[in-house]
Amino acid sequence: MKFDEPNHYTLVYQVFLFFSINLVCLQLQVNASSEKETDHLALLKFKQGITSDPHGIFNSWNDPLHFCNWTGITCGRRHQRVTSLVLVGQNLVGSISPHIGNLSFLRLINLESNTFRGEIPRQVGNLFRLQEFDLGNNSLRGEIPLNLSRCFQLNIIYLWWNNLIGKIPAELCSLRKLQMIRLGTNNLTGEIPPSLGNLSSLTIFTAPFNNLEGSIPNEMGQLKSLKHVSVGGNRLSGIISPSLFNITSLSTLGVESNQLNGSLPDNICFTLPNLQTFTFDENYFSGPVPNSLSNASHLEVFDISDNNFVGQVPSNLGNLQSLSWLNFEINNLGSNSSNDLLFLTSLTNCSNLEMFSIYGNNFGGVLPDSVANFSTGLIALNLGENEITGIIPAAMENLVNLITLHMNENLFTGFIPSQFGKLQKLQSLLLGYNQLSGRIPSSIGNLTQLSSVLLSGNKLEGSIPSSIRNCQHLYAVHIAENRLSGELPEEVLGLTSLSKILNLSFNSFTGHLPTEVGKLKNVNTLDISENNLSGEIPETIGGCLSLEYL
Ligand SMILES: *[C@@H]1O[C@H](CO)[C@@H](O)[C@H](O)[C@H]1NC(C)=O
Ligand SMILES: *[C@@H]1O[C@H](CO)[C@@H](O)[C@H](O)[C@H]1NC(C)=O
Ligand SMILES: *[C@@H]1O[C@H](CO)[C@@H](O)[C@H](O)[C@H]1NC(C)=O
Ligand SMILES: *[C@@H]1O[C@H](CO)[C@@H](O)[C@H](O)[C@H]1NC(C)=O
Ligand SMILES: *[C@@H]1O[C@H](CO)[C@@H](O)[C@H](O)[C@H]1NC(C)=O
Ligand SMILES: *[C@@H]1O[C@H](CO)[C@@H](O)[C@H](O)[C@H]1NC(C)=O
Ligand SMILES: *[C@@H]1O[C@H](CO)[C@@H](O)[C@H](O)[C@H]1NC(C)=O
Ligand SMILES: *[C@@H]1O[C@H](CO)[C@@H](O)[C@H](O)[C@H]1NC(C)=O
Ligand SMILES: *[C@@H]1O[C@H](CO)[C@@H](O)[C@H](O)[C@H]1NC(C)=O
Ligand SMILES: *[C@@H]1O[C@H](CO)[C@@H](O)[C@H](O)[C@H]1NC(C)=O
Ligand SMILES: *[C@@H]1O[C@H](CO)[C@@H](O)[C@H](O)[C@H]1NC(C)=O
Ligand SMILES: *[C@@H]1O[C@H](CO)[C@@H](O)[C@H](O)[C@H]1NC(C)=O
Repeated sequence: MKFDEPNHYTLVYQVFLFFSINLVCLQLQVNASSEKETDHLALLKFKQGITSDPHGIFNSWNDPLHFCNWTGITCGRRHQRVTSLVLVGQNLVGSISPHIGNLSFLRLINLESNTFRGEIPRQVGNLFRLQEFDLGNNSLRGEIPLNLSRCFQLNIIYLWWNNLIGKIPAELCSLRKLQMIRLGTNNLTGEIPPSLGNLSSLTIFTAPFNNLEGSIPNEMGQLKSLKHVSVGGNRLSGIISPSLFNITSLSTLGVESNQLNGSLPDNICFTLPNLQTFTFDENYFSGPVPNSLSNASHLEVFDISDNNFVGQVPSNLGNLQSLSWLNFEINNLGSNSSNDLLFLTSLTNCSNLEMFSIYGNNFGGVLPDSVANFSTGLIALNLGENEITGIIPAAMENLVNLITLHMNENLFTGFIPSQFGKLQKLQSLLLGYNQLSGRIPSSIGNLTQLSSVLLSGNKLEGSIPSSIRNCQHLYAVHIAENRLSGELPEEVLGLTSLSKILNLSFNSFTGHLPTEVGKLKNVNTLDISENNLSGEIPETIGGCLSLEYL
C-alpha cells in the first residue's frame, strides 16, 4: 500500500535523522569518554605525587587495567566515573595532586593515616559532590582551603593530626550538611568561628591541641544535635555560655587545658542527661561541684582537677554505675572538717571505678573504712596532700588491682598495715609525711612490682626489712626523716634497679656503709646523710657509675 511506502522525502528525512541521532550519540560518547579520560589522567597525576608506596598499592594503577579497578578506587556503575578514593593507613608518602579537583564525581576521599605532605590543594573546592573528606593523621601543612566551603554536600571533614596553620574558615558555615568536623592536633590559630552555630546538623566538633584563642562561641549553644565537643589543649578563655550546658544530646564535653573560667550551673546534669565524658581539668573554673552530678547516670569520666572549685562533694554519687574516672585533684574542695569525706561511702556503689583522686585539696576528717569497699577494679587511689586523719584501714588490702596508692602529706597515724603485702600489682606507694609509727612491714617484699616508694617524714622505727630485696623493680626509694636504726641493710644497697634515688637521710642508722653499695650502678642520687654511720667509705662506691649526688 502506498500509504505504507516511504516517499522520497520521508526517506531522506529518516536517513538524516539516523545520522544526526548517531552524531549526537557519538558526540555524547566522545564527551563521556573524554570525561572518563579526565578521571584517568587525574588519577595518573595523583599517582605521580606519591614518592613512597611500600605496600605496592599503585602497582595496580596501570593500563590496561581499567582505572575503576585500581586499588582504592570505586566508580559509579553506570557512568564509570570515580566516586571514591580510599587509601587508609598504607604508609604512603607524597603530596596530593591539585588534579584531584578534576575528579568531579568524587563523593568520598579518605587518605587517613599516611604521610601526605604539602598543602591541601584548593582545587578540592571543585568537588561539588564531595560528602566525606578525610585527610586525618598525615603531615599536611598550610591552611584549610577556603574553597572547601564550596563543597555543599560535605558532611564530614577530618583533618586532625596534621601541621595545618591559620584559622578555622568561618566560611564553613555555608556547608549546611556538615555533621562531623575533626581538626585536633594541628597548629590552628584564631577563634572558633561563631558562624559554626549555623551548622544545625553538627554532631561532632573536635579541635583539641591547637592554638585556638578567644571564647567558645555562645552560638554553639544553638546546635541541638551536638554529641561531642572537644577543644582541650588550646588557649581558650572566658566563660562557657550557659546555652552550651543546655544541649541535651551532649555526651562528651572536653575543654581541659585552657584558660576558661566561671562556674558550673548546679543543674548541669539535669540539662545534660547523656553526659559520659566531662573533662574540665586545668582551667580557672571556680564555685561548687554541681549537686546534680549524681543524676548524670551515664557518666564515665569526670575530671575537674587543677581548678579553683570549693565546697563539699555531693554525697550521693552511688548511682553513677559507669563511672570509671573521678578526678578532683588540685582544687580547694573540703574544709578540713569531719564531713568532708562522707561522699566516699557512696562511691563504694560505683562498681566500675578505676581511678579516683582528691590529691591536693582541703579534705579533713577520718578516712572512712568504707574506702576498702571501693570497686576491686580500682587501679589508682590518690588521697595525697590533704588533712585526713585516722589510721590507714587494713581492709584496703581488698583493693588488689591497685597500681598507685598515694596517701602522702596527710595526718594519718598508726601502722602501715602488713596486709598491704596483698596489693601485688602496686607500683607506686606514697605514704610519706604523715605520722605513721611502728616498723616497715616485711610484707613489703611481696610487692614485687613496686617501682617507687615514699615513706619519708614519719615516725617509723626498726630496720628496713631484708625482704625488700624481692622488690627488683624499685627505682626510687625515699625513707628519710624517720627513726630507723640498726645497720644499713645490704639488701637495700644491693637493689641494682635503683636508678633515681635512694634517700635514707635523717635516721639513726649505725655501723659501716656496706660494700654492696657498689652494686648501685644506676643510681643518680644517694643520700645517707644525718645518720650515725662510722668507718670508711668502701672503695666499691666507685661502682656507682651514674652517681651525680652523694
Ligand atoms: C584538570 O583541570 C584543569 C583545569 O580545567 C586542567 O588545566 C588540567 O589539565 C586538568 N588535569 C588533568 C590531569 O586533566
Ligand atoms: C574490573 O574487573 C572485573 C573483574 O576482573 C571485570 O569484570 C570488570 O569489567 C572490570 N571493570 C572495568 C571497568 O574494566
Ligand atoms: C596514624 O598513622 C600512623 C601510620 O602513619 C599509625 O601508625 C597510627 O596508628 C595512626 N594514628 C591514629 C591515632 O590513628
Ligand atoms: C576557589 O574559589 C574561588 C571562588 O570562591 C574560585 O574563583 C577559584 O577558582 C577557586 N580556586 C580553585 C583552585 O578552585
Ligand atoms: C604554631 O604556630 C606558632 C605561631 O603561629 C609558632 O610559634 C609555633 O612554633 C607553631 N608550633 C608548631 C608545633 O608548629
Ligand atoms: C546564621 O544564619 C542566619 C540565617 O541564615 C544569618 O542571618 C546569620 O548571619 C548567620 N550567622 C552567622 C554567624 O553566620
Ligand atoms: C535551656 O533550655 C530551656 C528549655 O528549652 C530554656 O527554657 C532555657 O532558656 C535554656 N537556657 C539557656 C541558657 O539557653
Ligand atoms: C573570667 O576571665 C575574664 C578574663 O579572661 C575576666 O574578665 C572575667 O572577670 C573572669 N570571670 C570570672 C567569673 O572569673
Ligand atoms: C537526681 O538524683 C537524686 C539523687 O540520686 C534523685 O533523688 C533525684 O530524683 C534525681 N533527679 C532527677 C531529675 O533525675
Ligand atoms: C547502688 O547501685 C544500684 C544499682 O546497681 C542502685 O540501684 C542503688 O540505688 C545504688 N545505691 C546508692 C546508695 O546509690
Ligand atoms: C585540720 O584539722 C586538724 C584536726 O582537726 C588540725 O590538727 C589541723 O591543724 C588542721 N589543718 C589545717 C591546715 O587547718
Ligand atoms: C607474702 O607472700 C608470702 C609468700 O608468697 C605469703 O605467704 C604471705 O601471706 C604474703 N603476705 C601478705 C601480707 O600478702
